[in-house]
Amino acid sequence: MEGSALVNSRQRLIIAVDGPSGSGKSSVCRAVASQLGAAYLDTGAMYRAATWYALSQGIDLADERAVAVAVGELPLTISTDPEHQTITVGQSDVTAAIRETRISERVSEIATNRAARALLIAAQRRIIDDSGFIVAEGRDITTVVAPDAQVRVLLTASAEARLRRRGLQLGGTETAEALHRQVIARDARDSTASNFTEAADGVAVLDSSDLTFQETIDALIQRVEQASAEPLSIPSAGASRGESR
Ligand code: DC
Repeated sequence: MEGSALVNSRQRLIIAVDGPSGSGKSSVCRAVASQLGAAYLDTGAMYRAATWYALSQGIDLADERAVAVAVGELPLTISTDPEHQTITVGQSDVTAAIRETRISERVSEIATNRAARALLIAAQRRIIDDSGFIVAEGRDITTVVAPDAQVRVLLTASAEARLRRRGLQLGGTETAEALHRQVIARDARDSTASNFTEAADGVAVLDSSDLTFQETIDALIQRVEQASAEPLSIPSAGASRGESR
């Protein structure tokens, strides 16, 4: 990776961020990766793309074996450039489609499928390994996917703040019930597959309920600096980021 003294001197720096829906994980992690010149991995997008694919194949999501087979053959390409997030499945650009309510309301069925999880976790580890300098976020990154990451943070926020943020993110178009289903009820379902509400040993908690977006970014960068014990040199341009399969 060009341009970052931190990474030139250390070769590898993995920043792992867990947290519930609406905690601001995605936007905060993308901004931090961008500022640091690191790659960025949104693991939730992989679960969403798998859901999109299984539904497009007409698979019954309750059929655990059929879902696992579909995830095993998922023709997924996910970019790790924080400034250009593109996700394709086969020839279809699903970057926007995977954010639709019809996907948000079904994605837990994939996230709670053990075989599908194992396949997606293996793919996430490959992407993280290949990158070496990356901000990776999801529900089980600090505990399962990258427990050896140098920086491990649980980004939390109150239920009220999370509902408000997800509502704004969706353009204020969702009813209170739909938002509740997509944030609180989905987290309750997903928590049967991974524990993302309590920090594991060695994981720092960052509560963003009363922080602005920029304050949250600054707080996360500060933790990265503490963990790396040297000031970060923010690269001017041209860090090597790209596409991963
Ligand atoms: O963060 P998100 O809302 O885009 O995540 C989509 C779904 O994927 C959500 O239901 C939780 C699940 N997920 C998971 O189980 N493990 C991850 N590492 C990331 C997401």
